[in-house]
Amino acid sequence: MSTETPATWRVVITNQIPPAGIARLRECEGLELDYPEKKLESDSICAKLREGADVLYCLLTDRIDAKVLDAGGSRLKQISTMSVGYNHIDVAECAKRGIAVTNTPDCLTETTADTTLGLVLAASRRFKEATAAVIDGSWGPWQPLWMCGNDVHSSVVGIVGLGRIGAAVARRLRAFNCTILYTGSRPKPDVAGPLEAEFVSLDGLLARSDIVIPLCPLNAKTTGMFDAAKFAKMKKSAVFINAARGELVKQDDLIAALKEGVIFGAGLDVTTPEPIPLDSELLKLPNCYVLPHIGSASSNTRNGMAKMAADNVIAGFQQKPLPNPVKL
Ligand code: GLV
Repeated sequence: MSTETPATWRVVITNQIPPAGIARLRECEGLELDYPEKKLESDSICAKLREGADVLYCLLTDRIDAKVLDAGGSRLKQISTMSVGYNHIDVAECAKRGIAVTNTPDCLTETTADTTLGLVLAASRRFKEATAAVIDGSWGPWQPLWMCGNDVHSSVVGIVGLGRIGAAVARRLRAFNCTILYTGSRPKPDVAGPLEAEFVSLDGLLARSDIVIPLCPLNAKTTGMFDAAKFAKMKKSAVFINAARGELVKQDDLIAALKEGVIFGAGLDVTTPEPIPLDSELLKLPNCYVLPHIGSASSNTRNGMAKMAADNVIAGFQQKPLPNPVKL
């Protein structure tokens, strides 16, 4: 492959992106941008790729599978996703075709950890039921035992996957005097040491934790990991938090566990599907606090992610080492 910057690269973008990202792309001479007015559905993405594109700038809501890659043909060289997760991209298929994949790690870590902490507090302290009581008038005179939830401070928190976001969540909870347990494919003494986090088996973590938080990537091994058997291993008082991917959870099993009091409550920033249908039982449960996948949704962070995904495109175009390649 030539190491000279080609004269132009055509960039297909699948949706409107934050201003910092589009500005960065527009600044780069030689990039021809195909920028849509609104989200492109899969067929339109394929049609744009068939017209010829060197790189696809996409979001986590775009399924990038063999059909899309076929539409890109041999001209397509890179998929730049404005997300840290890349489970929506068939990376094995990209590897086979020599298509690079880049993502946006790090810049969303702290914001996503903030959101996760919000869910921990809301689900443990029953904010959903409490807010509903304010609105429906069932808030009466102050009662000593009304609306009591679980303490977050001094609790035992089990994190499944002590990666960047897991560590950032653990750091916050250490300030709440929590004990941190973690599990994963291997101990991570460098990360765990400063958090005084203990490496345990998954079963050990489920049995001992007051709050269980998976923060691991979605892949063949982790899909459906949290099922009825796992919920049964948790404390009856446990709170389950998911700010990673909805598919980590067998959602019907979670609904049953919440309804039957197998666990105390849940806080979810992700569901299956998204958006969750309005008639989903999940939304009717008083002990389940649901957010609409806003983990990284601060203006600052979303602009940072958009810029990072743009920089990945620009590095590809300029034949420079990709700043954030996904290992294929
Ligand atoms: C958010 O869920 C992301 O993967 O960026």
